[in-house]
Amino acid sequence: MSNSGEAELLHTFKGIPFTTRSSPELLKSLDNFVAREDDVLLVSYPKSGTHWLAGVITKLYNTQVTITSPIEFGDVSKLEELNKLSSKRIIPTHLDYNMLPPNFKNKNCKMIYISRNPKDTAVSMFHYYRDNPNLPTIDTWPAFFDLFLKGNVVCGSWFDHFLSWEEHEGEKNILFLFYEDMKKDLPKVVKEIALFLNLKVSDNDIQDICRKSSFSEMKNDTEKENSDPSHTVCALTSNRRLIFRKGAVGDWKNHFTPKQNIRFEEIFNEKMKLSKM
Ligand code: A3P
Repeated sequence: MSNSGEAELLHTFKGIPFTTRSSPELLKSLDNFVAREDDVLLVSYPKSGTHWLAGVITKLYNTQVTITSPIEFGDVSKLEELNKLSSKRIIPTHLDYNMLPPNFKNKNCKMIYISRNPKDTAVSMFHYYRDNPNLPTIDTWPAFFDLFLKGNVVCGSWFDHFLSWEEHEGEKNILFLFYEDMKKDLPKVVKEIALFLNLKVSDNDIQDICRKSSFSEMKNDTEKENSDPSHTVCALTSNRRLIFRKGAVGDWKNHFTPKQNIRFEEIFNEKMKLSKM
């Protein structure tokens, strides 16, 4: 990673790397955020399928909802902006549980956490870093692999993020989902989401939502989509092609060397000792 690139594009807040598009003032003020009981949070570590999930959720609601940019993205005026929204808010975030504005927890807002095999997440993030001028330049996959394992990437350590949320998995207002389950049986996961959000949908609606949420449909739809950064899940690019890359399970096998795989597994097993995963 070039040092100048890192200095210009990233900063650290409470030990976690953020892009400079998340201003320190905004991050500091998050603790004062006033949540609404009907806010829905869409939580993920980057590159875990957030856009896919957001696509499903917006199709599930037949009333007017607004999907905002991530709560941690922008400057201090962000909170006021969110305050002014009159419609129901679907708010994405990559924050770990400890950094989440406490008012979301006090008001028992519904939160959906989507996770993905961290090996595929790492590969997806590598491509995203490589092709996105708003992120530091990482020259090679081995260099990115090391940074990812050290948690020295945007949003910090995958392990810390996952564990901070997994600790709350049993809470009634939190739904845990896996990218791989969505790939395996999307209708089943869509039904689960609908139940969690108390939305009545017919089997026909579900089939329709799944068809419109396939990778190819969503990728083709990118032209029509609202790419205004203040209304997109990924506020770091308006280039939708960076987001809909391959959409596959197991792409890590095309990148990891056997040695890297062993190292990843060792660190995974150590860090995830207490996890149910
Ligand atoms: P890849 O880079 O492996 O292709 P996020 O939305 O959290 O940034 O995650 C992006 C990842 O989700 C990308 O992974 C992207 O291709 C994948 N993705 C987006 N929409 C998808 C869909 N409809 N079906 C499957 N994967 C999808």
